[in-house]
Amino acid sequence: MDRIKFIGIVGGTIGAVGITTYLSSDCTNLVRADLKQIDNNKTLKPDQREILFLASLAPSGHNTQPWFVRYLEPYHWIIGNDKSKWLPAVDPNQRETMLSIGAFLQNLEYAAGSFGYACDWKLLATTNQDERVMEVKLSKKASPNNFDITKITSRRTVRSNFLSDLLKQEDITYLVDSEPEFIHYLPNNSKESKFINEQTIVANRLQSYRDPAQQELANWIRFSSQDANKYRDGLTTAGMEITGISGWMVRNFYDKDNVMTKDFRERGIDNIQKEVSASAGWILITSQDHSVAALLETGRRMERLFLKVRERNIAIHPMTQILEESSTRDKLNRSIGIEEHIQFILRTGYLKNYPQPVSLRRTLIGVAFVKENRFIQT
Ligand SMILES: Cc1cc2nc3c(=O)[nH]c(=O)nc-3n(C[C@H](O)[C@H](O)[C@H](O)COP(=O)(O)O)c2cc1C
Repeated sequence: MDRIKFIGIVGGTIGAVGITTYLSSDCTNLVRADLKQIDNNKTLKPDQREILFLASLAPSGHNTQPWFVRYLEPYHWIIGNDKSKWLPAVDPNQRETMLSIGAFLQNLEYAAGSFGYACDWKLLATTNQDERVMEVKLSKKASPNNFDITKITSRRTVRSNFLSDLLKQEDITYLVDSEPEFIHYLPNNSKESKFINEQTIVANRLQSYRDPAQQELANWIRFSSQDANKYRDGLTTAGMEITGISGWMVRNFYDKDNVMTKDFRERGIDNIQKEVSASAGWILITSQDHSVAALLETGRRMERLFLKVRERNIAIHPMTQILEESSTRDKLNRSIGIEEHIQFILRTGYLKNYPQPVSLRRTLIGVAFVKENRFIQT
Protein backbone atom coordinates (compact mmCIF):
# COMPACT_ATOMS: atom_id res chain seq x y z
CA MET A 1 0.00 0.00 0.00
CA ASP A 2 1.43 3.34 -0.90
CA ARG A 3 1.87 5.92 1.79
CA ILE A 4 -0.73 8.34 0.49
CA LYS A 5 -3.41 5.64 0.30
CA PHE A 6 -2.52 4.48 3.87
CA ILE A 7 -2.77 7.96 5.25
CA GLY A 8 -6.08 8.34 3.44
CA ILE A 9 -7.49 5.17 5.07
CA VAL A 10 -6.24 6.09 8.57
CA GLY A 11 -7.51 9.63 8.18
CA GLY A 12 -10.88 8.32 7.03
CA THR A 13 -11.09 5.91 9.98
CA ILE A 14 -10.24 8.63 12.47
CA GLY A 15 -12.74 10.91 10.78
CA ALA A 16 -15.40 8.18 10.92
CA VAL A 17 -14.68 7.36 14.57
CA GLY A 18 -14.59 11.09 15.36
CA ILE A 19 -17.89 11.76 13.67
CA THR A 20 -19.52 8.70 15.28
CA THR A 21 -18.23 9.78 18.68
CA TYR A 22 -19.38 13.33 18.07
CA LEU A 23 -22.83 12.24 16.94
CA SER A 24 -23.29 10.06 20.01
CA SER A 25 -22.20 12.95 22.25
CA ASP A 26 -24.27 15.84 23.59
CA CYS A 27 -24.07 17.77 20.30
CA THR A 28 -26.13 20.93 20.69
CA ASN A 29 -27.29 23.33 23.35
CA LEU A 30 -30.80 22.53 24.56
CA VAL A 31 -32.98 25.64 24.24
CA ARG A 32 -36.53 26.53 25.17
CA ALA A 33 -37.86 25.88 21.66
CA ASP A 34 -36.64 22.25 21.92
CA LEU A 35 -38.90 21.52 24.86
CA LYS A 36 -42.38 20.18 24.56
CA GLN A 37 -44.77 21.63 27.10
CA ILE A 38 -45.71 18.53 29.05
CA ASP A 39 -49.19 19.34 30.12
CA ASN A 40 -50.76 16.62 32.16
CA ASN A 41 -52.22 18.98 34.69
CA LYS A 42 -55.90 18.15 34.82
CA THR A 43 -56.76 20.52 37.66
CA LEU A 44 -56.37 23.69 35.64
CA LYS A 45 -58.42 24.91 32.73
CA PRO A 46 -56.37 25.77 29.61
CA ASP A 47 -56.42 29.53 30.19
CA GLN A 48 -55.28 29.08 33.80
CA ARG A 49 -52.44 26.86 32.62
CA GLU A 50 -51.41 29.42 30.03
CA ILE A 51 -51.52 32.29 32.51
CA LEU A 52 -49.32 30.39 34.98
CA PHE A 53 -46.95 29.30 32.25
CA LEU A 54 -46.53 32.92 31.12
CA ALA A 55 -46.01 33.98 34.74
CA SER A 56 -43.23 31.40 35.05
CA LEU A 57 -41.29 33.01 32.18
CA ALA A 58 -40.20 35.66 34.69
CA PRO A 59 -36.47 36.00 35.33
CA SER A 60 -34.92 34.72 38.56
CA GLY A 61 -31.41 34.57 40.01
CA HIS A 62 -29.61 31.44 38.63
CA ASN A 63 -33.01 30.64 37.05
CA THR A 64 -34.07 28.85 40.24
CA GLN A 65 -37.73 29.82 39.70
CA PRO A 66 -38.32 30.20 43.45
CA TRP A 67 -42.12 30.15 43.30
CA PHE A 68 -44.93 27.65 43.56
CA VAL A 69 -48.66 27.94 43.19
CA ARG A 70 -51.17 26.56 45.65
CA TYR A 71 -54.49 25.89 44.02
CA LEU A 72 -57.46 26.89 46.19
CA GLU A 73 -60.25 26.76 43.62
CA PRO A 74 -60.54 27.70 39.93
CA TYR A 75 -58.90 31.08 39.31
CA HIS A 76 -57.98 31.44 42.97
CA TRP A 77 -54.44 30.64 44.03
CA ILE A 78 -51.73 31.37 46.55
CA ILE A 79 -48.35 32.24 45.12
CA GLY A 80 -45.71 30.72 47.35
CA ASN A 81 -42.04 31.07 48.13
CA ASP A 82 -40.21 27.77 47.52
CA LYS A 83 -37.53 27.42 50.17
CA SER A 84 -35.82 24.62 48.25
CA LYS A 85 -34.96 27.16 45.53
CA TRP A 86 -33.27 29.74 47.73
CA LEU A 87 -29.67 30.82 47.16
CA PRO A 88 -28.36 31.18 50.72
CA ALA A 89 -24.73 31.86 49.74
CA VAL A 90 -25.48 34.90 47.57
CA ASP A 91 -28.93 35.88 48.81
CA PRO A 92 -28.98 35.05 52.53
CA ASN A 93 -32.00 37.25 53.28
CA GLN A 94 -34.06 36.13 50.26
CA ARG A 95 -34.11 39.68 48.92
CA GLU A 96 -33.59 38.44 45.36
CA THR A 97 -36.11 35.64 45.89
CA MET A 98 -38.78 38.24 46.59
CA LEU A 99 -37.70 40.35 43.60
CA SER A 100 -38.03 37.28 41.36
CA ILE A 101 -41.46 36.46 42.79
CA GLY A 102 -42.42 40.09 42.12
CA ALA A 103 -41.47 39.60 38.46
CA PHE A 104 -43.61 36.43 38.41
CA LEU A 105 -46.58 38.43 39.79
CA GLN A 106 -46.18 41.10 37.11
CA ASN A 107 -46.20 38.50 34.32
CA LEU A 108 -49.21 36.85 35.93
CA GLU A 109 -51.13 40.13 35.99
CA TYR A 110 -50.31 41.00 32.37
CA ALA A 111 -51.12 37.46 31.20
CA ALA A 112 -54.39 37.30 33.16
CA GLY A 113 -55.37 40.69 31.71
CA SER A 114 -54.75 39.47 28.17
CA PHE A 115 -57.19 36.62 28.83
CA GLY A 116 -59.74 39.10 30.14
CA TYR A 117 -59.21 38.65 33.90
CA ALA A 118 -58.59 41.25 36.56
CA CYS A 119 -56.43 40.20 39.52
CA ASP A 120 -57.46 40.82 43.08
CA TRP A 121 -54.31 40.61 45.22
CA LYS A 122 -53.91 40.05 48.93
CA LEU A 123 -50.42 40.20 50.41
CA LEU A 124 -49.91 37.38 52.91
CA ALA A 125 -46.16 37.46 53.62
CA THR A 126 -44.70 39.67 56.29
CA THR A 127 -41.12 38.42 55.90
CA ASN A 128 -39.03 37.28 52.92
CA GLN A 129 -39.10 33.79 54.37
CA ASP A 130 -42.84 33.30 54.65
CA GLU A 131 -44.07 30.44 52.48
CA ARG A 132 -47.38 32.04 51.54
CA VAL A 133 -46.60 35.25 49.68
CA MET A 134 -49.67 36.48 47.81
CA GLU A 135 -53.25 35.36 47.35
CA VAL A 136 -54.72 36.13 43.94
CA LYS A 137 -58.25 35.82 42.64
CA LEU A 138 -58.98 36.26 38.94
CA SER A 139 -62.34 37.63 37.87
CA LYS A 140 -63.67 38.17 34.37
CA LYS A 141 -63.69 41.83 33.34
CA ALA A 142 -65.46 43.48 30.48
CA SER A 143 -62.66 43.26 27.91
CA PRO A 144 -59.11 41.89 27.75
CA ASN A 145 -56.24 44.35 28.12
CA ASN A 146 -54.30 44.94 24.95
CA PHE A 147 -51.01 43.69 26.40
CA ASP A 148 -49.04 41.78 23.80
CA ILE A 149 -48.02 38.51 25.46
CA THR A 150 -45.24 37.92 22.95
CA LYS A 151 -43.39 40.50 25.03
CA ILE A 152 -43.38 37.87 27.80
CA THR A 153 -42.51 34.93 25.57
CA SER A 154 -39.68 36.78 23.81
CA ARG A 155 -38.09 38.45 26.86
CA ARG A 156 -34.66 37.18 27.76
CA THR A 157 -31.47 38.09 29.58
CA VAL A 158 -28.67 38.84 27.11
CA ARG A 159 -25.06 38.86 28.26
CA SER A 160 -22.87 39.39 25.21
CA ASN A 161 -22.37 41.50 22.09
CA PHE A 162 -23.61 44.75 23.62
CA LEU A 163 -22.86 47.85 21.58
CA SER A 164 -21.35 50.83 23.40
CA ASP A 165 -23.68 53.49 21.98
CA LEU A 166 -25.45 55.53 24.62
CA LEU A 167 -29.19 55.05 24.99
CA LYS A 168 -31.07 57.56 22.85
CA GLN A 169 -33.09 60.16 24.68
CA GLU A 170 -36.38 58.84 23.26
CA ASP A 171 -35.54 55.37 24.62
CA ILE A 172 -34.55 56.73 28.02
CA THR A 173 -37.85 58.58 28.12
CA TYR A 174 -39.72 55.41 27.19
CA LEU A 175 -37.93 53.22 29.75
CA VAL A 176 -37.25 55.52 32.66
CA ASP A 177 -39.75 58.31 32.63
CA SER A 178 -42.68 56.18 33.68
CA GLU A 179 -41.08 55.77 37.12
CA PRO A 180 -38.23 58.32 37.30
CA GLU A 181 -37.96 58.17 41.06
CA PHE A 182 -37.13 54.44 40.96
CA ILE A 183 -35.34 53.89 37.62
CA HIS A 184 -31.99 55.58 37.01
CA TYR A 185 -29.91 55.40 33.84
CA LEU A 186 -26.17 55.89 34.25
CA PRO A 187 -24.62 56.49 30.78
CA ASN A 188 -21.34 54.70 30.09
CA ASN A 189 -19.36 57.97 30.02
CA SER A 190 -20.42 58.96 33.54
CA LYS A 191 -18.10 58.43 36.48
CA GLU A 192 -20.87 56.51 38.27
CA SER A 193 -21.09 54.02 35.40
CA LYS A 194 -17.31 53.56 35.36
CA PHE A 195 -17.40 52.97 39.11
CA ILE A 196 -20.01 50.25 38.67
CA ASN A 197 -17.95 48.62 35.90
CA GLU A 198 -14.95 48.49 38.18
CA GLN A 199 -16.87 47.33 41.26
CA THR A 200 -18.69 44.64 39.28
CA ILE A 201 -15.33 43.09 38.47
CA VAL A 202 -14.17 43.42 42.08
CA ALA A 203 -17.38 41.83 43.39
CA ASN A 204 -17.24 39.00 40.88
CA ARG A 205 -13.66 38.25 41.85
CA LEU A 206 -14.63 38.18 45.53
CA GLN A 207 -17.62 35.96 44.85
CA SER A 208 -15.77 33.58 42.53
CA TYR A 209 -13.28 32.82 45.29
CA ARG A 210 -15.94 32.54 48.00
CA ASP A 211 -16.37 28.78 47.95
CA PRO A 212 -19.97 28.56 49.21
CA ALA A 213 -21.06 31.00 46.48
CA GLN A 214 -19.09 29.16 43.80
CA GLN A 215 -20.45 25.81 45.00
CA GLU A 216 -23.98 27.18 44.90
CA LEU A 217 -23.40 28.33 41.32
CA ALA A 218 -22.06 24.86 40.45
CA ASN A 219 -25.19 23.28 41.90
CA TRP A 220 -27.38 25.34 39.59
CA ILE A 221 -25.44 24.74 36.39
CA ARG A 222 -27.09 22.15 34.16
CA PHE A 223 -24.03 20.86 32.35
CA SER A 224 -25.58 18.26 30.05
CA SER A 225 -28.70 18.54 27.91
CA GLN A 226 -29.98 15.49 29.75
CA ASP A 227 -29.83 17.31 33.09
CA ALA A 228 -31.22 20.49 31.55
CA ASN A 229 -34.18 18.53 30.22
CA LYS A 230 -34.66 16.71 33.50
CA TYR A 231 -34.67 19.79 35.76
CA ARG A 232 -35.76 22.53 33.33
CA ASP A 233 -34.28 25.21 35.55
CA GLY A 234 -30.85 26.55 36.45
CA LEU A 235 -28.17 27.78 34.10
CA THR A 236 -27.73 25.84 30.89
CA THR A 237 -24.86 26.27 28.45
CA ALA A 238 -27.28 28.10 26.14
CA GLY A 239 -28.43 30.38 28.97
CA MET A 240 -24.81 31.17 29.85
CA GLU A 241 -24.22 31.85 26.14
CA ILE A 242 -21.53 29.18 25.86
CA THR A 243 -21.85 28.01 22.29
CA GLY A 244 -19.84 26.15 19.63
CA ILE A 245 -16.92 23.98 20.65
CA SER A 246 -16.81 25.50 24.17
CA GLY A 247 -20.46 24.56 24.70
CA TRP A 248 -19.75 21.04 23.46
CA MET A 249 -16.80 20.70 25.84
CA VAL A 250 -18.85 21.91 28.83
CA ARG A 251 -21.85 19.68 28.01
CA ASN A 252 -19.76 16.57 27.54
CA PHE A 253 -16.80 16.89 29.89
CA TYR A 254 -17.56 19.35 32.69
CA ASP A 255 -19.12 18.81 36.09
CA LYS A 256 -19.44 20.64 39.42
CA ASP A 257 -15.79 19.95 40.31
CA ASN A 258 -14.60 21.94 37.30
CA VAL A 259 -16.47 25.00 38.57
CA MET A 260 -14.33 24.95 41.72
CA THR A 261 -11.01 25.02 39.85
CA LYS A 262 -8.88 28.15 39.60
CA ASP A 263 -9.02 27.97 35.84
CA PHE A 264 -12.85 28.04 35.75
CA ARG A 265 -13.01 30.90 38.27
CA GLU A 266 -10.45 32.97 36.35
CA ARG A 267 -12.19 32.39 33.02
CA GLY A 268 -15.45 33.52 34.62
CA ILE A 269 -13.83 36.75 35.82
CA ASP A 270 -12.25 37.34 32.38
CA ASN A 271 -15.68 36.95 30.88
CA ILE A 272 -17.17 39.50 33.28
CA GLN A 273 -14.38 41.91 32.37
CA LYS A 274 -15.23 41.49 28.71
CA GLU A 275 -18.94 41.96 29.37
CA VAL A 276 -18.62 45.19 31.34
CA SER A 277 -16.25 46.65 28.74
CA ALA A 278 -19.19 47.04 26.33
CA SER A 279 -22.50 48.62 27.23
CA ALA A 280 -24.57 51.77 27.05
CA GLY A 281 -24.14 52.00 30.81
CA TRP A 282 -26.26 50.79 33.70
CA ILE A 283 -29.84 51.02 34.86
CA LEU A 284 -30.38 50.99 38.61
CA ILE A 285 -33.75 50.16 40.10
CA THR A 286 -34.47 51.34 43.60
CA SER A 287 -37.18 50.74 46.16
CA GLN A 288 -38.91 52.74 48.83
CA ASP A 289 -37.69 50.44 51.62
CA HIS A 290 -36.83 46.80 52.29
CA SER A 291 -40.35 45.61 53.17
CA VAL A 292 -41.85 42.55 51.48
CA ALA A 293 -44.34 44.79 49.67
CA ALA A 294 -41.57 47.08 48.41
CA LEU A 295 -39.42 44.17 47.18
CA LEU A 296 -42.33 42.57 45.35
CA GLU A 297 -43.20 45.92 43.79
CA THR A 298 -39.56 46.40 42.74
CA GLY A 299 -39.52 42.96 41.11
CA ARG A 300 -42.66 43.97 39.24
CA ARG A 301 -41.06 47.29 38.26
CA MET A 302 -37.99 45.50 36.90
CA GLU A 303 -40.18 43.14 34.89
CA ARG A 304 -42.26 46.00 33.45
CA LEU A 305 -39.01 47.56 32.26
CA PHE A 306 -37.60 44.23 31.02
CA LEU A 307 -40.74 43.61 28.94
CA LYS A 308 -40.29 46.95 27.16
CA VAL A 309 -36.67 46.71 26.04
CA ARG A 310 -36.75 44.14 23.25
CA GLU A 311 -38.93 46.26 20.96
CA ARG A 312 -36.21 48.94 21.15
CA ASN A 313 -33.37 46.45 20.52
CA ILE A 314 -32.07 47.05 24.01
CA ALA A 315 -30.60 44.26 26.13
CA ILE A 316 -30.69 43.92 29.89
CA HIS A 317 -28.21 41.94 31.93
CA PRO A 318 -28.75 41.90 35.71
CA MET A 319 -25.37 41.84 37.45
CA THR A 320 -26.08 41.63 41.14
CA GLN A 321 -22.70 40.74 42.66
CA ILE A 322 -22.01 44.27 44.00
CA LEU A 323 -25.17 43.94 46.09
CA GLU A 324 -24.34 40.39 47.17
CA GLU A 325 -20.82 41.08 48.50
CA SER A 326 -20.85 43.20 51.66
CA SER A 327 -17.63 45.12 51.00
CA THR A 328 -18.82 46.38 47.60
CA ARG A 329 -22.43 46.84 48.72
CA ASP A 330 -21.47 49.01 51.69
CA LYS A 331 -19.84 51.74 49.61
CA LEU A 332 -22.19 51.69 46.61
CA ASN A 333 -24.74 54.36 47.56
CA ARG A 334 -22.17 56.81 48.88
CA SER A 335 -19.94 56.45 45.83
CA ILE A 336 -22.64 57.05 43.25
CA GLY A 337 -24.65 59.58 45.23
CA ILE A 338 -27.94 57.71 45.36
CA GLU A 339 -29.74 57.61 48.67
CA GLU A 340 -32.54 55.17 47.87
CA HIS A 341 -32.31 51.41 48.33
CA ILE A 342 -30.70 49.95 45.20
CA GLN A 343 -32.25 46.57 44.40
CA PHE A 344 -31.17 45.92 40.80
CA ILE A 345 -28.01 46.71 38.87
CA LEU A 346 -28.72 46.11 35.20
CA ARG A 347 -26.13 46.40 32.45
CA THR A 348 -27.82 47.70 29.34
CA GLY A 349 -27.02 48.31 25.71
CA TYR A 350 -28.21 48.09 22.14
CA LEU A 351 -27.83 44.86 20.20
CA LYS A 352 -27.35 44.32 16.50
CA ASN A 353 -29.09 40.96 16.60
CA TYR A 354 -31.49 40.06 19.38
CA PRO A 355 -31.27 36.33 20.16
CA GLN A 356 -34.29 34.17 20.94
CA PRO A 357 -34.98 33.19 24.56
CA VAL A 358 -33.24 29.98 25.59
CA SER A 359 -33.63 29.58 29.37
CA LEU A 360 -35.82 26.66 30.46
CA ARG A 361 -38.85 26.55 32.72
CA ARG A 362 -40.40 23.80 34.77
CA THR A 363 -43.82 22.73 33.55
CA LEU A 364 -47.08 22.51 35.43
CA ILE A 365 -46.55 18.87 36.18
CA GLY A 366 -45.79 18.40 39.83
CA VAL A 367 -49.20 18.42 41.41
CA ALA A 368 -48.61 17.16 44.90
CA PHE A 369 -51.52 16.79 47.25
CA VAL A 370 -51.01 18.43 50.59
CA LYS A 371 -54.11 17.75 52.65
CA GLU A 372 -56.93 19.54 50.86
CA ASN A 373 -54.73 21.92 48.93
CA ARG A 374 -52.84 21.16 45.78
CA PHE A 375 -49.40 22.52 45.14
CA ILE A 376 -48.71 23.21 41.54
CA GLN A 377 -45.09 23.32 40.70
CA THR A 378 -44.38 25.69 37.86
C1 LIG B 1 -32.93 38.90 41.15
C2 LIG B 1 -32.13 38.50 39.92
C3 LIG B 1 -30.75 38.47 39.95
C4 LIG B 1 -30.02 38.09 38.82
N1 LIG B 1 -28.64 38.16 38.86
C5 LIG B 1 -27.93 37.85 37.75
C6 LIG B 1 -26.51 37.97 37.74
O1 LIG B 1 -25.90 38.41 38.73
N2 LIG B 1 -25.83 37.63 36.63
C7 LIG B 1 -26.48 37.18 35.51
O2 LIG B 1 -25.82 36.87 34.51
N3 LIG B 1 -27.84 37.07 35.47
C8 LIG B 1 -28.57 37.39 36.56
N4 LIG B 1 -29.94 37.31 36.54
C9 LIG B 1 -30.61 36.83 35.32
C10 LIG B 1 -31.00 35.36 35.47
O3 LIG B 1 -29.86 34.53 35.43
C11 LIG B 1 -31.99 34.99 34.37
O4 LIG B 1 -33.17 35.71 34.58
C12 LIG B 1 -32.34 33.52 34.35
O5 LIG B 1 -31.20 32.76 34.02
C13 LIG B 1 -33.44 33.20 33.34
O6 LIG B 1 -33.07 33.65 32.07
P1 LIG B 1 -33.99 34.66 31.24
O7 LIG B 1 -34.00 35.96 31.96
O8 LIG B 1 -33.31 34.75 29.89
O9 LIG B 1 -35.36 34.06 31.16
C14 LIG B 1 -30.69 37.69 37.64
C15 LIG B 1 -32.10 37.73 37.62
C16 LIG B 1 -32.81 38.12 38.73
C17 LIG B 1 -34.32 38.18 38.68
